[in-house]
Amino acid sequence: MTYLQLVNYVNKLSRQYHIDDNPTVPDHEYDTAYAQLKQMETEQPELVVPYSPTQRVGETPIGEFKKVKHTVPMLSLDNTFSVEDTVKFFERAAEKLGVLPEDLVIISEPKLDGLAIELRYENGILVTASTRGDGEAGEDVTHNIRTLPSVPLKLDTDNPPEVLEVRGEVFMPKAEFVRVNAELEAEGKKTFVNPRNAAAGTIRQMDSKVAAGRGLEFIPYGLGDMPGFFGYFPFVNSYQDIQACLVDLGFAAIPNQDTSICLFESMEINYNCHEEFRDLLPVETDGIVYKLANLEHQRQLGFTGRSPNWAVARKFPAEKATTKLLGVDWQVGRTGVITPVARLDPVFVGGVTVSNATLHNWDEIVRLGVHIGDHVYVQRAGDVIPQITGVSRPADTSITPTEVNGKRLALCADRPPINKPTECPCCKSAVKQITGQVAIRCTNSFSCSAQAVAKMQYYVSRDRMNIVGLGDSLIEKLYGLGRIKTISDIYLLNSIDIADVEGCSWKVADKIIKAIEASKQTKLHTFIAALGISDVGESTAKALVKHFGTLDNIRQAEWADFLTVEDVGTATATSLVEFFGNTANRLEIGAIIRAGVIWTEASADRPQPLKGQTWVITGTLSKPRDHFKDLLEGLGAKVAGSVSKKTNYVLAGEAAGSKLDTAKSLGVSVLTESEFEGMGLT
Ligand code: IVH
Repeated sequence: MTYLQLVNYVNKLSRQYHIDDNPTVPDHEYDTAYAQLKQMETEQPELVVPYSPTQRVGETPIGEFKKVKHTVPMLSLDNTFSVEDTVKFFERAAEKLGVLPEDLVIISEPKLDGLAIELRYENGILVTASTRGDGEAGEDVTHNIRTLPSVPLKLDTDNPPEVLEVRGEVFMPKAEFVRVNAELEAEGKKTFVNPRNAAAGTIRQMDSKVAAGRGLEFIPYGLGDMPGFFGYFPFVNSYQDIQACLVDLGFAAIPNQDTSICLFESMEINYNCHEEFRDLLPVETDGIVYKLANLEHQRQLGFTGRSPNWAVARKFPAEKATTKLLGVDWQVGRTGVITPVARLDPVFVGGVTVSNATLHNWDEIVRLGVHIGDHVYVQRAGDVIPQITGVSRPADTSITPTEVNGKRLALCADRPPINKPTECPCCKSAVKQITGQVAIRCTNSFSCSAQAVAKMQYYVSRDRMNIVGLGDSLIEKLYGLGRIKTISDIYLLNSIDIADVEGCSWKVADKIIKAIEASKQTKLHTFIAALGISDVGESTAKALVKHFGTLDNIRQAEWADFLTVEDVGTATATSLVEFFGNTANRLEIGAIIRAGVIWTEASADRPQPLKGQTWVITGTLSKPRDHFKDLLEGLGAKVAGSVSKKTNYVLAGEAAGSKLDTAKSLGVSVLTESEFEGMGLT
């Protein structure tokens, strides 16, 4: 056998073993062929091709993840939570297509609980593997993805399309998750909470040897960029056809697909079947994906915002378990709200072991009628905080009768009631409850340490100022050491302050100082949202900036002025007035600005030539879409996700799809990037 024949032979045996589950030769034959290949490569290193099976694991860890821009945006799916919602989704699709709903061909398949990955093949060779990221651009994780036996390094064809992007889910099978966690535990390392986190954590490793040792798998569910694909496969006109091609090219097939759904008659049966089979599948699933099979239908429907109009997910309901309520701690948040946190006898639910859950507020405790020592229902879905949804009374009374005629026995020693806090659990100040509000608050906003720490933790968090490395516990420790008291102190920290904190090093400290420095360049709405004002998240902050233009204008606005801002109601207006009316807050903002935090603000004095107009951005532009969105919003325009008769302009980049078609059919003006620049607005 020549070298390339041997490469192809070993790749074929590997595919039979890992993907088809159908080895045709005994294991030792594979081992011998592999060893022979390895020897040939050692003797003649100039022969080695990147798709040789010996090249899956890289020698040296990569330094950092590069950004990869997706040629075609990677969408996500809208969720439905009932059969009716799913049926409605497809009824709407049928109406838009002008066909009868019962004539739609709908396919269902499990929603694999891992992470979305795009594989780019050029002339049949895997060149890049990237994560979804924000849908526009993700991270280059090729080094890790190359180690997955179910990802072909070379497409199984002699006549590959020039470019083919395959999208699918990378996941850790349930059995592998148990094995990996047992291994981590034995090594005294932190275990993963569920298979999805395990897959994501593994893919984010710099060293490909880690991924190579953790049996991750890949299953495709769609294509990205695919110029010439239909020339290559002329008879492809359905989703199943694409999947058949992918299997031909060397990929695994998705399990448990159902192609015989009738919209009105069998949606319910289909759902029940998937739910019943859920536990039997070797991979964790969190729902079902329903898709229209007809590719022409998919093309005509296109997408809205970030999700397709031809596919939808139906999520499985949150898993529930019962466990014992051991106690309740009252936690003080950044705005002084005191929240009850239930301490539970650890219980495995929704893929993780839960030992804390939220009880929301005092009214909820009263509504549930829950006492310490009760058995309670715990629910956890997706990434949300576990919740207590009820008290398991039958189980209770069988152990100790705690109720008579539905009323609690007040003096049941092993079931004491939960006490409503009368003082702040942290600073012991008085608490208040604003009439009409459920929240109990600490009245001391100046020196309550719990609030101070929570404010800083919120400020630096990923969705706010994003100071990477300055985590919750480090903030607590720095506060405990008296090195930071308020947000502005963060900017006065130096490497020495951080390096001698337990668990830190010079390297870590330097990285954090760099991250603090980098965070100083920000946007005004990001800064306002990071201040942690009650009810003011990112979208309200954006609306405030859009309306007032500068921080000074916001600071000086009155209650009634705030009410004229889109989406600002009376409660938000009140908390804004209270926040900016507070001298300590004003001084703190001044100190942060003096420390060097700076933004490019859209001045209110700046003309807003596009005020009242609605724009839609589509296709690939020279800079990320957010750049143009910010620009247009700064000029007063509203930027919408889909084209309608009300759209004034569509800004269309390269490879614009259905939105451009809609614009043309509705007679909406379309501008290229250079035409837009030519308008002289920027
Ligand atoms: S189709 C247009 N099919 O779910 C988007 N997605 O919530 C096409 N996922 O980002 C996605 N299993 O990572 C599709 N059988 C399946 C899936 C699946 C899991 C993930 C995927 C996507 C996310 C959306």
